[in-house]
Amino acid sequence: MTEQDFIPKTYSKTLEKGKVTWESPSNIALVKYWGKKKDQIPENPSISFTLNACKTITTLSFAKKDLSTALKVTSEFSFEVILNGEKKDNFKPKIQTFFKRIESYLPFLKDYHFVIDTKNTFPHSSGIASSASGMSALALCLMSIEKQLMENDVTLSTSTALSTGSVERSIDENYFNQKASFLARLGSGSACRSVEGDLIVWGKHKEITNSSNLFGVKYPFEVHENFKNYQDTILLVDKGEKQVSSTVGHNLMHNHPFAEQRFTQAHDNLSKLIHIFKEGDLNSFIKIVESEALTLHAMMMTSMPYFILMKPNTLEIINKIWRFRQKTGWHICFTLDAGANVHILYPEKEAVQILEFIKSELVAYCQNEQYICDRIGFGAKKID
Ligand code: DP6
Repeated sequence: MTEQDFIPKTYSKTLEKGKVTWESPSNIALVKYWGKKKDQIPENPSISFTLNACKTITTLSFAKKDLSTALKVTSEFSFEVILNGEKKDNFKPKIQTFFKRIESYLPFLKDYHFVIDTKNTFPHSSGIASSASGMSALALCLMSIEKQLMENDVTLSTSTALSTGSVERSIDENYFNQKASFLARLGSGSACRSVEGDLIVWGKHKEITNSSNLFGVKYPFEVHENFKNYQDTILLVDKGEKQVSSTVGHNLMHNHPFAEQRFTQAHDNLSKLIHIFKEGDLNSFIKIVESEALTLHAMMMTSMPYFILMKPNTLEIINKIWRFRQKTGWHICFTLDAGANVHILYPEKEAVQILEFIKSELVAYCQNEQYICDRIGFGAKKID
């Protein structure tokens, strides 16, 4: 698939107004995406567990603009954003950029006025990034509108898109998800891994069939029972605004002294995971996942300007996890996003003992003792 395959020619139906709702989960990367080229193309492939409980629910209402008014079709995007029932104008620039990036793939965007009504299941400003779940939910809503605009035409599948180039047909599920992921990527890179579950790869990797820089794909190989229903308890260490946004951080990988080695390492780690997933090798899994998390933060600490997103309690928690693992042999490990919060990953069959440890030893390091029990999930859902 290329970008061209996501450009529709014309729409056969007209729609005056309507409303669609999607819920879309967050995801946690095992091999991290850190560094991107133009147009949200990742510098290296990444792989993530889709989450289950941490999600965004978005209702997108749309109404055709009156062409006789000032809001001419060709002029501006017209939309408002509501978060938890409150108008949020400070979210508008991000959506505006998103709409600009996706306009050529969704030519109906300027024909409508949109109301984006959104809420997250996790606490607002918990330090959990809502961009992955938020952008994927919005991309899915927009795809539902496109689907309605194409309904009843010849079904478009990935293979017909490939053979016909640009298209004016209705949409099969595979194409729908691929284009939703493609669009979500243009909103926020990691969002393209939130459309489906349970293990998603984004970025071209030589051993992973169909992997693409343009959208996320389901991990195509065997995964051992040990990784089914894997648990993720998220410790909310610091709920404050990040001092450095992901986008700025990604850009600091340009001219970073260790960039090339890092990108190669990500490819190698993904290769190693193929065997680890198949064999259910939890000890090797832990080594890769923790190394990836620390490498991500090492990249931040060695960029120019350099910065640190971990907090003292992040390190306290990591040390406690290491001591507990050494003492008990339980397969508990951590990963980090671009922030101070700690994701604790562990297999379902060890959940009782590990959760007890988390509650008795680690929750004290969280801001207001806040934590979220999550686990692997299976992707976004349309809500009727
Ligand atoms: C550290 O997807 O938030 O979470 O593409 O600029 O929106 P943008 O960045 P974003 O970056 C997330 C990076 C990460 C690692 C990961 O999820 O792979």
